[in-house]
Amino acid sequence: MVSRVRTVAFQGIEAVPVDVQVMVAPGKVGMQIVGLPDKAVAESRERVQAALHASGLSMPSKKVTVNLAPADLPKEGSHYDLPIALGLMAALGAIPGDALSAYVVLGELSLDGTIAAVAGALPAAIGANADGKGLICPQACGPEAAWAGADIDILAPRSLIAIANHFRGTQVLSRPEAKVHAPADNLPDLADIKGQETARRALEVAAAGGHNLMMVGPPGSGKSMLAQRLPSVLPPLSPKELLEVSMVASIAGELAGGRLTDRRPFRAPHHSASMAAMVGGGLRVRPGEVSLAHHGVLFLDELPEFSPAVLDSLRQPIETGECVIARANHRVSYPARLQLIAAMNPCRCGMAGEPGFRCARGDRCRTEYQARISGPLMDRIDLRIEVPAVSASDLIRPGRSEPSADVARRVAAARAIQRRRFEELGTGVTTNAHCPTALVETIAPLDAAAIALLRDASEKLGFSARAYHRVLKVARTLADLDESEEVRRIHLAEAISYRVAGERLAKAA
Ligand SMILES: Nc1ncnc2c1ncn2[C@@H]1O[C@H](COP(=O)(O)OP(=O)(O)OP(=O)(O)O)[C@@H](O)[C@H]1O
Ligand SMILES: [Mg+2]
Repeated sequence: MVSRVRTVAFQGIEAVPVDVQVMVAPGKVGMQIVGLPDKAVAESRERVQAALHASGLSMPSKKVTVNLAPADLPKEGSHYDLPIALGLMAALGAIPGDALSAYVVLGELSLDGTIAAVAGALPAAIGANADGKGLICPQACGPEAAWAGADIDILAPRSLIAIANHFRGTQVLSRPEAKVHAPADNLPDLADIKGQETARRALEVAAAGGHNLMMVGPPGSGKSMLAQRLPSVLPPLSPKELLEVSMVASIAGELAGGRLTDRRPFRAPHHSASMAAMVGGGLRVRPGEVSLAHHGVLFLDELPEFSPAVLDSLRQPIETGECVIARANHRVSYPARLQLIAAMNPCRCGMAGEPGFRCARGDRCRTEYQARISGPLMDRIDLRIEVPAVSASDLIRPGRSEPSADVARRVAAARAIQRRRFEELGTGVTTNAHCPTALVETIAPLDAAAIALLRDASEKLGFSARAYHRVLKVARTLADLDESEEVRRIHLAEAISYRVAGERLAKAA
């Protein structure tokens, strides 16, 4: 007799249906799993047998064959334990076979028969809902799965016995509740930062338009401090963005307690991060930092300390908003629409350019340090600012600076303008930074004075085509912050100045 249970394989953040077919037939006693399983799936056999035994069910003294169909789809992870065990239980008559047909099942088994949490419950639930099915998942994953819809039937049992009892009707499982992560309101606040007016302004512009930002300055000038205050001025995620962000987090197994939050992700990987940690992949494909920063911020502190290969791997995701990982036998893609915030010292000793200071190694100190960042990566950074050391008079001055709440209000207003604009244009983007190139000239119409300025600047500074478009996008954001319909010369001049700071740094190198 063959019993069938529906489960899923993950391809990127999509849940692809997989059929688990379990056959118990006369033959050599044992259990075999076929259908392109990886090592974790092959080990399922031991866990399933132990868990069934612990639940008071003995394995049949027959031949058990488990087939995962379609056979040419790679199956990774440990979430196949539960569908295999339930399929086997149905084949043995321990639960009614037709009860399972209305569900998609995923979960890992412990040897004692309890069901352990797995990654990806949210996308699995969304996929199941689209198919008109319910979901059986581990108890710990119930709250996140419940987000897939109010009417989807979700069973989140603690153990194999609990699910068997549910189907027998002796102990009915209740539907888990969707939980929200209580927002922490103790985010670091911009009010703590004294002086640094230029940097604060650039941070506001970056937040308003979703632009990439690079801060260069001597040690202790407050670069890390500024970046850490960006989350406090960013607007919350829209419901659609929230679902996308949570799907990535779910696949990566990073949804703490299955709770979702509308706070934008802020990822700050250490500079020792490997390529697999940054863009995803590794032994088992999982989203990297760039994807976990989807719709949020990727903060790279001490930029030149990252390995140059890792930095260059960011080029594709920054440009396309997705990250494609090629594997030996398949490829996966994760969304990665991120905002890059970088901070660095101008040279290794950190003091280049400071008045009255000369690097011990002369210009080489700066040249070698900055050469670690490739030109193409620099080209993708719209706002480049110098963050000079804070002057003593600024530090001593009593009182607090403008708090984040005020800045956040202006950012939210500018974002609302952008959202409306891109909705009217019918594009899927929401910020100026991600506006498709073909639309840049439509969204940023220039007056004659501005055109003259832009022509002059691009000739003198040798803008690349990308730089040209990025300057226009920044200028658009500046006009939005001003609530101005048109992009005027003053906006363009400020946008160009953010670009020039970078060119000057590069020239000095
Ligand atoms: N503008 C500022 N206002 C108030 N305090 C500041 C300011 N800038 C720096 N500080 C103080 O200096 C400390 C160090 O700042 P931060 O770590 O941001 O420097 P940094 O520029 O990232 O330095 P590094 O290049 O060494 O990483 C902060 O924790 C804070 O106490
Ligand atoms: Mg720092």
